[in-house]
Amino acid sequence: MTEADLKDVMLIEEQIYPHPWSRKIFRDCLRTGYECRVYEAAEDILAYSVMSAAAGEAHLLNLGVHPQQQGKGLGRLVLQQVMQHAREKSADTLFLEVRISNHIARRLYEAEGFNEIGQRFGYYPAENGREDALVFARSLL
Ligand SMILES: CC(C)(COP(=O)(O)OP(=O)(O)OC[C@H]1O[C@@H](n2cnc3c(N)ncnc32)[C@H](O)[C@@H]1OP(=O)(O)O)[C@@H](O)C(=O)NCCC(=O)NCCS
Repeated sequence: MTEADLKDVMLIEEQIYPHPWSRKIFRDCLRTGYECRVYEAAEDILAYSVMSAAAGEAHLLNLGVHPQQQGKGLGRLVLQQVMQHAREKSADTLFLEVRISNHIARRLYEAEGFNEIGQRFGYYPAENGREDALVFARSLL
């Protein structure tokens, strides 16, 4: 992902999340040197991921698939790529947070070997206040 991709990334982000990241958040992730990747076909961005990795731990910060491309196996493929990139960065564990109401993402993570290890109360903004996050982790060893 480069700054030039952010227009297209934001078009997807704003369609798939009720509380999307801002362009500034993506820009900050790029400038911080996080692993920000886009997955393209014929120069169209179909999906993207943002991961940080340091001190043996990796954190999946964002995973998005274009609304018209969801349910075709792309999310699983991107998640597997993220796990591979995390291993290449010498991480032995991949962590992520997911909204408690996001059953599709939860199913994906569970199917890919993640375990629920905790809950963060009121972690996300929500329509009527705040929503809890579930914390998932998976060994990469
Ligand atoms: C969550 C997301 C990344 C999954 O990507 P995807 O390409 O749609 O998912 P895949 O086609 O790879 O499916 C992977 C698994 O997710 C689950 N899943 C996908 N679509 C589903 C649906 N409509 N209903 C229930 N489960 C579903 C299934 O477990 C599926 O595995 P299976 O096909 O073996 O049953 C994607 O839907 C998305 O971008 N959602 C909006 C943003 C988001 O919630 N990101 C995650 C934040 S933590």
